[in-house]
Amino acid sequence: MSKLIDTYGRAHRNLRVSLTDRCSLRCTYCMPHDFAAWIPNDDLLTTNELLTIIEVAVSQGIDEVRLTGGEPLLRPDIVEIVGRIAGIPNAPRLTLTTNGLRLEELAQPLANAGLNRINVSLDTLDRERFKKLTYRDRFDDVIAGLHAAKAAGLFPIKVNSVLLQGVNDDEAPALLEWALENEYSLRFIEQMPLDAGGIWDRATMVSADQIFAELSTRYALTPVDGRGSSPAEEFFINGTQATVGIIGSVTRPFCGACDRLRLTSDGQLRSCLFSNEEVDVRKVLRDDSRDDASKRNEITARFQKTVISKLPGHGINDPSFIAPVRPMSAIGG
Ligand code: 5AD
Ligand code: SF4
Repeated sequence: MSKLIDTYGRAHRNLRVSLTDRCSLRCTYCMPHDFAAWIPNDDLLTTNELLTIIEVAVSQGIDEVRLTGGEPLLRPDIVEIVGRIAGIPNAPRLTLTTNGLRLEELAQPLANAGLNRINVSLDTLDRERFKKLTYRDRFDDVIAGLHAAKAAGLFPIKVNSVLLQGVNDDEAPALLEWALENEYSLRFIEQMPLDAGGIWDRATMVSADQIFAELSTRYALTPVDGRGSSPAEEFFINGTQATVGIIGSVTRPFCGACDRLRLTSDGQLRSCLFSNEEVDVRKVLRDDSRDDASKRNEITARFQKTVISKLPGHGINDPSFIAPVRPMSAIGG
């Protein structure tokens, strides 16, 4: 039972943990190619600190932890981190979102260490486009990583795609055909105003309706009932059991059923990707005047404070909306 209930009655069970804000790609919708405003190394949580926070979270009813970044596989001790989280009594379900570049070597060790599932980001099937979109020529590594995830049995393997007007917005049906062939579960995500470069523009954003219309030119889509707290609206394809998801973060907000909290790599709790408030737990962990029990009590109190401050929705569509100061790579996707 979750003890993390907000003032709107939403119970929180899912913690997204950013392990680093660094990344090996520069997806244009995420960060400028010359981005340099990294979190100082000394501010990053140590693995012991991370474990303490996750243990407290589990004691409060968190039953799913998703490791994100930046790129979580850049954390040198990622396999150890997964193993230690999987070893917590009452271990949460453990998932990870990655750009896939290091997955070829890491998929099997991660699965062995206790990782349950994986999400891989891939926006195009064209090498040249991939290079243009990410500023790195690493398409083949992502594909190799996906094969390794399959070989390691990390099912269902989810692939996340963001469509950008004039860049890859003609690729929705091709991406779906490829995903069906390879038995990946594909989800399209609407571009959100979270990039460090501030390039997001409502006028050019490819909307959930547009994605649905594009896919419908080649596939018959019927809604899957029972969305729960999932951000994705899922559709059966051509009357089969195979599905595709559309995450309408901007045009079809799903805040009403949100069960997610976030921990940044520098130890700040957030109630929402878009919130402008953070609650500091790093400071508690590094307060030498406290013993371990006192630290855990205070972190518990700060989880409660974070949940209580949660707003009903992200407000992207309000005229007064202000994008968060920190980009998604620092908050965790
Ligand atoms: N809008 C939508 N999705 C984004 N991602 C990163 N930045 C954005 C953005 N501005 C996606 C990545 C990855 C997931 C963690 O979030 O492509 O799949
Ligand atoms: Fe890296 Fe993910 Fe941002 Fe792309 S979207 S630059 S893979 S953190």
